[in-house]
Amino acid sequence: MAANTNRETIVVADEKAIAEAAAHRLINRLEEAKDRAAICLTGGSSPQGLYRLLAEEPWRSRVPWGRVHWFIGDDRFVPEDDPLSNMGMARRLFLDKVGVPRGNVHPIPTDADDPENAANLNQHTIREFYGAGRLDPARPLFDLVLMGVGPDGHTASLFPGQRELDEKERWVVGVAKAGMEPWVPRVTLTFPALASTREMLFIVDGAGKRDIVRRVFSGEDLPAARAYSDGALVWLLDRAAAPEGHHG
Ligand code: 6PG
Repeated sequence: MAANTNRETIVVADEKAIAEAAAHRLINRLEEAKDRAAICLTGGSSPQGLYRLLAEEPWRSRVPWGRVHWFIGDDRFVPEDDPLSNMGMARRLFLDKVGVPRGNVHPIPTDADDPENAANLNQHTIREFYGAGRLDPARPLFDLVLMGVGPDGHTASLFPGQRELDEKERWVVGVAKAGMEPWVPRVTLTFPALASTREMLFIVDGAGKRDIVRRVFSGEDLPAARAYSDGALVWLLDRAAAPEGHHG
């Protein structure tokens, strides 16, 4: 599918409204899934309001925790208790607070020997969960994939100009050199794996993001613009991040 042909943009007032709108979308996807559901989380500051909300009522009681599985789109190659760890952040903000069954959280194993190894192990876990080594667009891997965008246009740990952008076969790859700080090696899901979802939801807030959102929407060749979805592709912005002409 050509990137971004199906993009929907939603603009809400502020960070609080973003967290609530994202929580609504997540609950809807979980309800649709009926049985086992898979959510791919993201790092960064933008999803933190959502994560906090999920640990609080009324949201907490609306999530069928026992049947939801949690993955992460990318992580820094650091231990989970390091403040830089994306899965560590999600655990602290909500997963640990609500007592998610241990087997329902599938972190990138950053205690592996190196990022390549961690990528292979995580790919194996995801393929086992999916039950096949090839993705079938008619049977998405995820119900919801959360994404963010960095000031340079990166998304997950897919940085401008790096070769991981062109990966078509592997679902998870090591990233030896990050494109921006923190300068630690990363592990990231690839575009085809991230695309295998009923919905990809970008969460973007703050005036500091307005220019990069404008560039992505204008069709510049940036990683966040290359991200595509086999299902819905939604950009959820607050007013501060929304470029001219996208104020909802
Ligand atoms: C990471 C994230 C990354 C993030 C963007 C946006 O590991 O850093 O997964 O891709 O989503 O950098 O980050 P903010 O939400 O903090 O702006």
